[in-house]
Amino acid sequence: MCGIVGYIGPRNTQDVLIEGLSKLEYRGYDSAGIAVYTDGGLKVSKALGRLVNLENKLEGAPLVGSVGIGHTRWATHGKPSDVNSHPHTDATQKFSVVHNGIIENYLELKDELIASGVEFVSETDTEVISHLVAREYNGDIVEAVQKVIKHLRGAFALAVLTEYEPDRIVAVRHASPLIIGIGENENFIGSDIPAILKYTRNVFILNDGEMALLTRDSVKLMTIEGNEIAREMTYIEWDAITAEKGGYEHFMHKEIHEQPRAYQDTMRGRVDESGKKVVLPDFHMTDEQIKNIRNVQIIACGTAYHAGLVGRTVIERLVRIPVETDVASEYRYRSPIVTPETLVIVVSQSGETADTLAALREAQANGAHVLAITNVVGSSIARDANDVIATLAGPEIAVASTKAYTSQLIAFYLLGLYFAQVRGTQTEAQVAETLAAMQALPEQVESILTRELEAKAHAEEFSSQKHLFFIGRGLDYAAAQEGSLKLKEISYIHSEAYAAGELKHGTLALIEEGVPVIALATEQALIEKTVSNIKEVKARGGVVLTICYEEDAQELLKSVDSVFTIPKTLPLLTASLSVVALQLLSYYASLALGLDVDKPRNLAKSVTVE
Ligand code: M6R
Repeated sequence: MCGIVGYIGPRNTQDVLIEGLSKLEYRGYDSAGIAVYTDGGLKVSKALGRLVNLENKLEGAPLVGSVGIGHTRWATHGKPSDVNSHPHTDATQKFSVVHNGIIENYLELKDELIASGVEFVSETDTEVISHLVAREYNGDIVEAVQKVIKHLRGAFALAVLTEYEPDRIVAVRHASPLIIGIGENENFIGSDIPAILKYTRNVFILNDGEMALLTRDSVKLMTIEGNEIAREMTYIEWDAITAEKGGYEHFMHKEIHEQPRAYQDTMRGRVDESGKKVVLPDFHMTDEQIKNIRNVQIIACGTAYHAGLVGRTVIERLVRIPVETDVASEYRYRSPIVTPETLVIVVSQSGETADTLAALREAQANGAHVLAITNVVGSSIARDANDVIATLAGPEIAVASTKAYTSQLIAFYLLGLYFAQVRGTQTEAQVAETLAAMQALPEQVESILTRELEAKAHAEEFSSQKHLFFIGRGLDYAAAQEGSLKLKEISYIHSEAYAAGELKHGTLALIEEGVPVIALATEQALIEKTVSNIKEVKARGGVVLTICYEEDAQELLKSVDSVFTIPKTLPLLTASLSVVALQLLSYYASLALGLDVDKPRNLAKSVTVE
């Protein structure tokens, strides 16, 4: 995701900013920029692409000064480009702003500013902030920022610098992390610890709703309403690598834990203020086009394909349109039947997967409207698709996909509900009920994550086995397929996922004394049938761990060996909780086996060959 740095003090500001940004590169970004107060006033330099492009630019035109802010951008609103990268300024170039997060109501604010004569240069949500700060400024940058915050809805971490007060930087945290580093006669801002670790280990960690005013020799912490806060400094003991992983041992573990935030970010700005209706502000398909869809084809690879399996059920149940799901490497070679009324949805975390990109082009060549669900807004798939729904999971570094998958599920829920609204296949009350259940998901995921030790104990028990089976019906089967892939790729344990009812048609022959079977049993309408299949496994000596709702645990324990419970949600949403349990099981199995969790053998994060 985006990165923020800020510096005020005697060092060469440009160097400190670039050094800080380089330490945030691991988070992924598509452009970078800095603003420094120089002899000639506030100056900005930005460049698309790697940080080295910015460094090259600065070599020819250095920004010399003792206060500045910098940013690495990971596009969410507007494609990656020089002009869309941060810092953003107002029309007079006297105010500059860097921002992490999403301003949900930016379109509203932008319209209002345009009506008052402001000209926008970028497509970003952030630019509204720089114009608003300029409008509200009356000699005190803190007051101006406080006034602006009142207009903003969404998530934001900000650093703001003005030419009028070059001895001060303002930092704000609202649902997007920010820390303040304390030095001697110098102070720092960082969106993440690695950005400032080279210079100081003493930090103030801002909480949501707090801001800081930095000068060279002081830091004042306050609430966004302006009430001063007294806080103890935190001493950071992490080494640089641990800091990149946010204190976690592995990126995968960190990314599993980032899911509650990824769910919120992917929903942010896509549910109206009443909380009862889906809005997709950047969606191009007209209502008429949506009403004319005759069939949907979902195409993807690996984990993204598994998200598509859930997406199929979601769209079929909510919208009653026939949906096929296909792996991308097969799709283009099977002469797919596509008509102008076919909607093709490609799903890809990276947006660069060669098979998926080729399938997208095949579908477009056949006249389909292609919608991409992707985590990388500036990717090839995002650029080529006719429509994009960005999953806002933030960069995923571990090869094993976790938060990208669950964010893809959130995108499918939103899309299904949106289509259902347009086509009238769900009542307003039904849509509102599903959205309310979705809002509860982040907290429910948190509650699963508090029970990691339980998952660890289960994983340690089966990690010495050579084979393992996952079974489930309906959406449990879709989630089982993802659980099986996760386990295979990072623990190298051979596993298969089966539709629970299909096991007896052949694979049951492989079940013998001690073979572990993970049975997902959350689909309430199918639970009795799943239990019958579990009994078939038990009768052959299989050892069954069941993922189920708390309220079903007692009953299920009569038939199975152990349970891992998850909080209850609507049947449609169940995979977004059960999969978190499966991710933990895989993670701890890999750990128990002493394997390289983040970089499993033979695999790459982005597969750009067919
Ligand atoms: O970037 P993509 O989502 O297009 O990648 C697709 C697959 O290569 C990817 O999901 C792969 O299966 C993951 N390693 C699974 O964890």
